[in-house]
Amino acid sequence: MSSTSSSCVDLRDHVQDQDLSEEYLSSSSRDYSAGSSPLTTPALSDEEFDFDVPSEDALLAPTQAPADGSEKYIMVIGGLGYIGSHTTLELLREGHNVIVVDNLSNSYKTVLKNVRMLAAHHCKVNNVPMPRLRFFRIDYRSKAMHVLLERYSKLVMTVDATSGKQVVSYQSRIAGVIHFAAYKSVVESIQQPLRYYRNNVCGLVNLLQELERFNIRNFIFSSSATVYGSKANAGLPLKEEDLIHHQVKTQNEAGETAIVEPTIEGLSCPYARTKYFGEAILADVAEADPDWRIVALRYFNPVGCDPSGVLGESPRGEPTNLFPVLTQVLKGDRSNLNVFGSDWPTRDGTAIRDFIHVLDVARGHIAALNWNSKKGNGFSTFNLGSGTGTTVLEAVRSLEQAAGREIPLALVDRRPGDVGMCVASTERAAKELGWSTRESITKCAADLWNYVSKVALRS
Ligand code: UD1
Repeated sequence: MSSTSSSCVDLRDHVQDQDLSEEYLSSSSRDYSAGSSPLTTPALSDEEFDFDVPSEDALLAPTQAPADGSEKYIMVIGGLGYIGSHTTLELLREGHNVIVVDNLSNSYKTVLKNVRMLAAHHCKVNNVPMPRLRFFRIDYRSKAMHVLLERYSKLVMTVDATSGKQVVSYQSRIAGVIHFAAYKSVVESIQQPLRYYRNNVCGLVNLLQELERFNIRNFIFSSSATVYGSKANAGLPLKEEDLIHHQVKTQNEAGETAIVEPTIEGLSCPYARTKYFGEAILADVAEADPDWRIVALRYFNPVGCDPSGVLGESPRGEPTNLFPVLTQVLKGDRSNLNVFGSDWPTRDGTAIRDFIHVLDVARGHIAALNWNSKKGNGFSTFNLGSGTGTTVLEAVRSLEQAAGREIPLALVDRRPGDVGMCVASTERAAKELGWSTRESITKCAADLWNYVSKVALRS
């Protein structure tokens, strides 16, 4: 047996355990930032909320090191969603212990089993110990989160450097937190702005307060290229300094000092504003308390999936992003792809995007975590993009090649709020994080088709 934890359950029991907690799940997926919580007496019993997830494959994996209560963890909030699950997998492959927090509102419990299986397979092949994977099916905004953070902390006595007085404070085994649990649909955000602000903004504020209480100040935030707003329309690769939150002093080549003020223009929807506000809040928090090390990663267009074809993007609602829509067409759930706009000033008239393989995005998180632990200082931003622009039609062609069949298209009007070109400048991430993309759009398409033909077509 790969796990020695007392909370380890057999997979057969595991399914039953999860079913037992459905009632809790349905109540915990509501928004609680308005004040109420389903848990009047918060409790996390191993039977209900906490699993090591063994799998048949894991039984053959090298033995897991026994827990002595001092192991460090990375907490991944929203760790079973599309980017979250790939990041959890990469963290495990890199040897990190992971605590996944997810309320399954936009993901499935089978993802956990698949992540565990793929990580175990990796460990077996490379003959390395399997890191610990813990799963808590809770809403990160519920009171259960406090109980969970407390479980991984202890009270220690330290001497305050200024006053010389003894103080009691928490010391956590959670070495860093990656926060994916935000809503991301542009259309939904226009229809339900308060829901978006409540989760993406109020939820973030409450989470930061909770983390601060437990002295966890190493934080990675999922941001988006959407924060550049209409600056994307300049048609140039977007640089991190195109959006800053505080005044910056720069020096030109002649040695003259210039002061750059923050400016923002053309945020296209409530979703974009929640990401902007999120970043601005984080920048202020880091400014006020220099112990915080915060990285906001601005994603361009994550696509593709793990080459195993076991993990993919399977949102619960109606997809609106290009690749999930293409998946539906390939599956036969949609007759054709509506191409939004064929009159953009680009090489084929369709919009240009910076598509990036989701595993590259996942590896970007690990690079950011490592950098933040060693060199992080206050609030920092990095683009996660490839630096290569691909048109919508070129993306469609890659998928057609991978699938060996034609994808029916209809050229329709531009989608409101879209920009013609959105491509990352990759310099800062390459220089500071030592990270750049490894995979091409061809690989993204091949891996997506592998997933569609293996999994999605059968469901
Ligand atoms: C969108 C959001 C962005 C968000 C990102 C991730 C908008 C305006 N922007 O980015 O804020 O961070 O998703 O959730 O929605 N396309 C089609 N037909 C389709 C779907 C898409 O032609 O059915 C085109 C779009 O017009 C666009 C490109 O494909 O030109 C990429 O679209 P999408 O995958 O939705 O990503 P973004 O618009 O770049």
